[in-house]
Amino acid sequence: MPSLLRGRLAPLLAVVPLVLALVPALGAPAAAGPDTLFPRLGDASYDARHYDVRLRYDPSTNRLRARTSLRAVAPTRLTSFQLDLVGMRVTSVRVGGAKARWRRSGQQLVVTPRRPVEGRFSVTVAYRGVPRTYRDPDGSREGWVRTGDGAIALGEPVGTMTWIPSDNTPGDKASYTYRITVPTGTTAVANGDLARRATHGRRTTWTWRARDPMATYLAMVAIGRFRGYHSTARSVTGRRIPVWTFADRDHDVPRSVRRTLPRALRFAERLFGPYPFTSTGMVVDDADVGYALETQTRPFYPFAVDTVTLVHEMAHQWFGNSVTVSDWHDLWLAEGFATYTEWLWEARRGGRTPAQQFDSLYAQPASARMWSPAPTEFTDSRDLFGAPVYQRGAMTLQALRERIGDADFFAFLKIWARTYRHGNATTADLVRVAEQVSGQQLDQLFADWLELDGRPAGY
Ligand code: ARG
Ligand code: ZN
Repeated sequence: MPSLLRGRLAPLLAVVPLVLALVPALGAPAAAGPDTLFPRLGDASYDARHYDVRLRYDPSTNRLRARTSLRAVAPTRLTSFQLDLVGMRVTSVRVGGAKARWRRSGQQLVVTPRRPVEGRFSVTVAYRGVPRTYRDPDGSREGWVRTGDGAIALGEPVGTMTWIPSDNTPGDKASYTYRITVPTGTTAVANGDLARRATHGRRTTWTWRARDPMATYLAMVAIGRFRGYHSTARSVTGRRIPVWTFADRDHDVPRSVRRTLPRALRFAERLFGPYPFTSTGMVVDDADVGYALETQTRPFYPFAVDTVTLVHEMAHQWFGNSVTVSDWHDLWLAEGFATYTEWLWEARRGGRTPAQQFDSLYAQPASARMWSPAPTEFTDSRDLFGAPVYQRGAMTLQALRERIGDADFFAFLKIWARTYRHGNATTADLVRVAEQVSGQQLDQLFADWLELDGRPAGY
């Protein structure tokens, strides 16, 4: 990914002196090592570039037959490497077309090619079975989740390994193609653009292409008897962005909500810069998981969508999806920003201002759950989606805004989104960008808000 990032940034860097100052940081590859929270997942010895995912799914039996090909690059010679996969029965693994040896070990599929790989290589895994629903440490369900008339695959933080053998860590983004074959009359939705729909008698194959880099946790397919809505949204610059929205028949998306989507998109564009992807939309399905998810380009909602949640998931397209954490312990870079965007939206609608939101949270007792553990200091993945990450994360941004002033703060939001567009970033990267934009030393402010156990004093 680093070379791609550099390639995309080059023209931009040449014209933006402020961003030019950040070049040394960008030259360094994203942190490649075991994830703090999921050290057993991911393999830093190669860089995933493209997943070609072929699925054949039968909603009546919940059985999947699949073949995923991954194109990747190994900077050094590898005699074996690892993919992450739980459940399913693997029937064959090929590397560069030749049969490879493989073994399963916990969540790992360890592949030993006949000859070592180096540079570009491809690995194809054939597998089948009833995919698993995965139970998170916080008790919620992800992975392959069955619905009344099909299934939806959700992947935050780790569930994608129930249906795609993958380098399942947010630091390794790749593009995706999906070819999903389902009974004719059933719809298969995924991330990106609908490229083709071909019916051969009783079966229909839906082809979706997601060309922009995507973290595994944002991969999604939804299969069911959906109502579909296709339209276009206009960006603030006049770009026409295709909208594909699908809703379970019992969870229809009211027109008012569908009309809010382009507004939320433009609201975010004015704050953060151009929408980073080639299409948008939503999926409303009856998977009762208790959360919405910012699945790339096309967020999932488990219930009638409310506009604030829509805005939250839209904000994630910039923060989380385009600018992605390198390590799960930095998740406030996604959730703090998405929560802060809700505050900005509510203020625009005449509700409370971010300063008021900040004050009422700050008034919470020192024993409130929000104050501990600090947003970047948790070590238990149960705390990933806790109040410190969301609310104290958003408060961090308000504290920054009050310190550096509105002009620099709103410039910072755009520069942050542009500098790490389609890449990975860390909290340290963010501190550096905020310091560059404002010319102020901010390490103490960020340490207070992100690292200190308990309520920061003096704000
Ligand atoms: N990222 C989602 C959101 O902010 C929440 C995902 C919650 N997932 C979980 N396993 N608890 O809307
Ligand atoms: Zn979120």
